[in-house]
Amino acid sequence: MLELLREEFRRRLGVAPRFAARAPGRVNLIGEHTDYNEGLVLPCAIDRETLVLASPRTDRRCRVFSLEMEAEAAFDLDRLARRGDWVDYVQAPLFAVEEQGLRAPGLDLGIASRVPRESGLSSSAALGVAVAAAADAAAGRPRGPLAWARAAHRGESHFVGVGCGIMDPFASALGRADHALRIDCRSQQVEPIAFGGAEARLLIAQSGVRRALARGGYRERVAECAAALEAARSAGVAPADARALRDLGPSDLPALERVLEPRLLRRVRHVVGENQRVDAFCAALARGDLAAAGKLLQQGMASLRDDYEVSTPELDLLCDLADAEPGSFGSRVTGAGFGGCTLHLVAADRAAAVADRISEGFAVRFDRNPPILTARVSDGARVLSP
Ligand code: GLA
Repeated sequence: MLELLREEFRRRLGVAPRFAARAPGRVNLIGEHTDYNEGLVLPCAIDRETLVLASPRTDRRCRVFSLEMEAEAAFDLDRLARRGDWVDYVQAPLFAVEEQGLRAPGLDLGIASRVPRESGLSSSAALGVAVAAAADAAAGRPRGPLAWARAAHRGESHFVGVGCGIMDPFASALGRADHALRIDCRSQQVEPIAFGGAEARLLIAQSGVRRALARGGYRERVAECAAALEAARSAGVAPADARALRDLGPSDLPALERVLEPRLLRRVRHVVGENQRVDAFCAALARGDLAAAGKLLQQGMASLRDDYEVSTPELDLLCDLADAEPGSFGSRVTGAGFGGCTLHLVAADRAAAVADRISEGFAVRFDRNPPILTARVSDGARVLSP
C-alpha cells in the first residue's frame, strides 16, 4: 500500500512525500456507550490501517488526495471550514493541531486506507490520528500518540461536530500488539491488558448496514444519558455534583427505578452494568478464562439489544449464529451499533468453521454474505521513517 501511495503522491502532487504516518482502526472488546458517560472501555487496535504521506509546503495551503475516495481537494489552513464531505475529516485534526498551538506549515497529503469505512471500525479516528501524526512530523515536532489522539478527538467533536467519546482515537493512537487497552474515560488513564490470544481469535463480521445512517440514533443516546443524569440529580438520587452516569452504580438502581421513566432507566442500567463488565472482562482475561469473558460479551449484547436498543435484526442474527457454534465463547455488537459490526470471541481452531457458518446462516436470511475478518491485535499509530 505504501509503495502505491508513494507513486500516486508523486504523480498527483508533483513532489516527493517526506513523511509517513500510519494509524489503525479499532475494535472494542467491551465497554460500549460508556466513553461519553466518562466510564470504562476496553478496545484494541487491529491490523487494518490508514496511511498518510505528507510533504510540508512553504505556504499555508493544503492539497490532499484519497485513494479510496478517488478524489482530490485543496484548502487553506487559515480558512478551515466544514464542507460536509470526507475532506472535513482531514481538516479536523489540522484544526485541532493548530488550536493546540502548533502552527503547522501547509501540507501536501496523500491518504490510503484498509480500514473499512462506515462499518464501526473507526476509519475516521484512524484518519484523524494519522493526519495529526503526519502534521506533527512535518512541523518537526513529533509530540507522540497521546497528543495525536487528543487532536483527532477534538477535531471530530469540535470541527466535524460529532459528539463522540475518546475511545476510538485513543485506541488507534495508543494500541499495543497483543493487548487490549482499559481506558478510564474520566481520568484518561490507559492500562494495557494482555490479551493472551494464543487459543482465541477475534472475528469481526460486517453487517453491511451502514453506520452513517446511525448518527441520529447515537446523538439521541448521548442526549438520553444527559437527561437521565439530570433527572437523577434533581430527584436527589445522584449527588448534586455528579458529572456523568459514571457517578452512578448498581446500588443506585432501585432508587432510580422510582424516579426515571422506563426508557431512561434502561439506558442507565446498560451503562452501569457495562462499566462493571469491563472490569470483570479484564479479570477474566487475567485468569485466562475465555469462557467467562465470552459470557460477559453475551451479557453485554443482551444489554445493548434490550436496554440500550442499538442492535438491528442483522446484528442479532450474526451473534445468534456464532453463539450456536461449538468453539464460540461469546459475541456482541461492537462500536456504536445501529449497523456496523459484530465481534466474536472464538477458539483459534474453530475460527474458520465459525466464520463459514455465520456467513451461510446470514445468507439464508439476508441473501448476501457478510464480510468477516479475523483481526490481529496490533500496535497503535506511529510515524514511519520517510
Ligand atoms: C462510536 C463512538 C465512540 C463510542 C462508541 C460506542 O464508536 O465514536 O466514541 O461512543 O460509538 O461505545
